[in-house]
Amino acid sequence: MEDIKYAPIGVFDSGVGGLTVAREIMHQLPDEYIIYFGDTARVPYGSKSRETIIRFSRQIVHFLQTKSVKAVVVACNTASALALETLQPELDIPVIGVVVPGARVAAESTKTGKVGVIATESTIASELYTRVIEEQNPRVQVYGKACPLFVPLVEEGWINDLVTLEVARRYLKPLMETGIDTLVMGCTHYPLLRETFRQILGDGVTLVNPAYETARELKDLLEREGIANDGKRVEAGHDPDKTEANAMDPGKTDEEKAVKKYSFYVSDAANKFKEFASTILPFGVDAAQLVHIEDY
Ligand code: DGL
Repeated sequence: MEDIKYAPIGVFDSGVGGLTVAREIMHQLPDEYIIYFGDTARVPYGSKSRETIIRFSRQIVHFLQTKSVKAVVVACNTASALALETLQPELDIPVIGVVVPGARVAAESTKTGKVGVIATESTIASELYTRVIEEQNPRVQVYGKACPLFVPLVEEGWINDLVTLEVARRYLKPLMETGIDTLVMGCTHYPLLRETFRQILGDGVTLVNPAYETARELKDLLEREGIANDGKRVEAGHDPDKTEANAMDPGKTDEEKAVKKYSFYVSDAANKFKEFASTILPFGVDAAQLVHIEDY
């Protein structure tokens, strides 16, 4: 039987946004193989009900399990907030989300005891960020703000744009009036707007990117469970055809090797996904395979 430590990690999101989390995992855990699934047919999750998000997430995890993943990262704040608690006890592999790691670091970093959380409508309505931050430190006051316009603005490519800056000003104004010194970017797309937030908030507010903390938590978890890839058997990855060629060709650049380690699957619009993915990841994504996710 193949050693489980060489199995891939499943990472999923409602679409492209979770690539900000995958990017962090690639950076912090360079030996790991990743199977990424973006639910591009059913995005956005941020305005959907708990029941729907649980159903979608369950199907995706079933799909990832057909790829023999050793762990799953729910790289979507909305799915982490609404579905993770339900899914965890159903699975025999570790599953982590992005909310708890992000909330923990926010609770630790605030000095004023006032933390802002910006996220999708469903994530804010779930109040999970508030619950976890208050559990960590009951003296912290949490101010949540749903910012539904940010996701379409990012997907339109309006990252450094005056319209986005104005929208951000409006969303952030009430939070700034509360005196927050820490802001959780509680949606996968928001770290891409970091510079815009920084421009509005100045240097006095710490921006928390849950993706970063999630990758750290994943690293700890894999080591604790004894299933971290030690990088010693490059040829034993999840795609023997590709990785064997990869291992045997010492002339390959780091970028070429990276491309071989990661597989991308989507439920629709593969070409659009590839284009967007190539703007988020430090290498070009040459293939994203279509999956009929309702079958899982
Ligand atoms: N990935 C979602 C999140 O982090 C944002 C996009 C959506 O609404 O599906 O909450």
